[in-house]
Amino acid sequence: MEHNIETLLANINGFVPADKQQLEDFRIQYAGKKGVLNDFFNTMKTLPNDQKRAFGQQVNVLKNAIEEKLLAFRQQFENTDDVDSSLDLSLPAEPLQLGSHHPISLVRQQITDIFSRIGFTISEGPEIEDDWHNFSALNFPEEHPARDMQDTFFINNENKIALRTHTSSVQVRVMENSQPPIRTISPGRVYRNEAISARAHCFFHQVEGLYIDEDVSFADMKQTLLYFAREMFGANTEIRLRPSYFPFTEPSAEMDVTCFLCNGKGCNVCKYSGWVEIMGCGMVDPQVLDNCGIDSTKYSGYAFGMGIERITMLKYAVKDLRIFSENDVRFLRQFSGQQL
Ligand code: DAH
Repeated sequence: MEHNIETLLANINGFVPADKQQLEDFRIQYAGKKGVLNDFFNTMKTLPNDQKRAFGQQVNVLKNAIEEKLLAFRQQFENTDDVDSSLDLSLPAEPLQLGSHHPISLVRQQITDIFSRIGFTISEGPEIEDDWHNFSALNFPEEHPARDMQDTFFINNENKIALRTHTSSVQVRVMENSQPPIRTISPGRVYRNEAISARAHCFFHQVEGLYIDEDVSFADMKQTLLYFAREMFGANTEIRLRPSYFPFTEPSAEMDVTCFLCNGKGCNVCKYSGWVEIMGCGMVDPQVLDNCGIDSTKYSGYAFGMGIERITMLKYAVKDLRIFSENDVRFLRQFSGQQL
């Protein structure tokens, strides 16, 4: 009998049911009414009193082993009871749809990166501006026709608070708040009261640049802008400066780069001229320096401003700028994976 119990104990301890049914069969076999355990209890009743105690102890060990086994696997099978068997938790998850950076953000970042590498800081100003920072400090006298160059959204006609029409307003703020040497780049959103078309929008983005120090010359500006053009559009890019007019720079120029779509050979983007215009620039007018608290007898400097939409359109051959603000994911997805 002793040997029998030991073998049974080994069997019980080694038993691993594959499913609920096997566990139930085990229960019936060992702990059921006609099961092994009851057989032992019945046998015990027939034993002489002096043997009952030792036998009873062994049967108890068996009973505990059976109960432990039942308890352990009941818990395990119960947990999986109401789980759909077609659900495979080891399958890989559905891939998450990742968003992408907006092309305007990508190009803005490229522009600021290029200038950051040569020591320009980044500065920002408010989109709601007063007349002084958007116009007067920049030499747009009251009633001067130059103000008609930019169609302004006024918020308050009396005190002429407006949505800024250009990021040149940030130059004024930087000069008012610091002293040369100043090297800064100001990206931001600007607003103009214009009819929306493929080439114009009532809001768009610009990057303004400002460099003020002693003995800054037009040649310094030209070399910096050549460096920028080559970093932005490729090492073979050439630039050309055409005389222009802005109230806040003297002399003023517009800068073209060789068309990087046709390499200057002529295509419909550059209208078969081989050149595309990308920015306005010039030497900061001494009057503007004085307006902003910078001694124009000691310091000189240059400024430039470019439209981010325009550069993005050229770079990615986008023909209609309205697509930048339509949030069409079929367009935006084409920029996925590109990092800022
Ligand atoms: N503020 C001008 C515009 O919005 C762009 C510009 C031209 C900025 C020449 C400058 C500059 O700093 O020197 O059209």
